[in-house]
Amino acid sequence: MLHPVAELDPADVSPLLGGLSAPLAAISTRSGDVSNAQIAVAVAAASIVPQRPRLIVQIYHTNYTHGLISASGVLAINFLETSQLPLIWELGMHSGRDGDKLGSVSYTTGPTGSPLLEGCYGFLDCRVINAMDGGDMTAFLVEAVTARTNGGERMTWREARPRLPRRWADEWDRKIAGEVDVSLRTMGSIDPAAWSGRPIT
Ligand SMILES: Cc1cc2nc3c(=O)[nH]c(=O)nc-3n(C[C@H](O)[C@H](O)[C@H](O)COP(=O)(O)O)c2cc1C
Repeated sequence: MLHPVAELDPADVSPLLGGLSAPLAAISTRSGDVSNAQIAVAVAAASIVPQRPRLIVQIYHTNYTHGLISASGVLAINFLETSQLPLIWELGMHSGRDGDKLGSVSYTTGPTGSPLLEGCYGFLDCRVINAMDGGDMTAFLVEAVTARTNGGERMTWREARPRLPRRWADEWDRKIAGEVDVSLRTMGSIDPAAWSGRPIT
């Protein structure tokens, strides 16, 4: 357990963190017979070698996807195209624990078996090579085994947010408030164990 730290004023922090690029992506995975996908904006490049792409993908412990990635060691990063706005609702506001979210979504699979969504701006099919626990989330370091740019127009969360129907925006505000409460309770309990290539919990 980390020592408690003083909580900062969101008025100082939000303009700084809100300016960071937040690409809208569907993070998909397959573990055994189960395929699932969730929305994530916490995706960042982690390699300077164009032909050896690595990325860091942050996934919250409470998400169904977290357990599936931890068990399988694979995921695909599907960058959303602007026409895929409805996926924010379907994949980002609901959990795969409550039903098959990919039942009405067209996809293929590649080397890792993770769903590669049709119509996305492009995808990277990846395997996990390391991970760092943050108490409430895990930062997975992944390397891409295949990648494709389909084209179209990609979306950031900043661009998509004003286009959300009112009901979705209200639901998001309610959901994120609950998740912040969970994070406040769990982010101090960091497991320093390194990713061993074996499943983590
Ligand atoms: C715009 C948006 C951004 C999100 N960003 C992240 C993220 O970066 N990491 C994460 O773990 N969850 C993120 N989420 C939340 C998950 O997509 C959401 O909790 C989802 O319902 C989890 O699904 P699952 O339980 O099937 O895994 C985001 C959701 C939305 C709508």
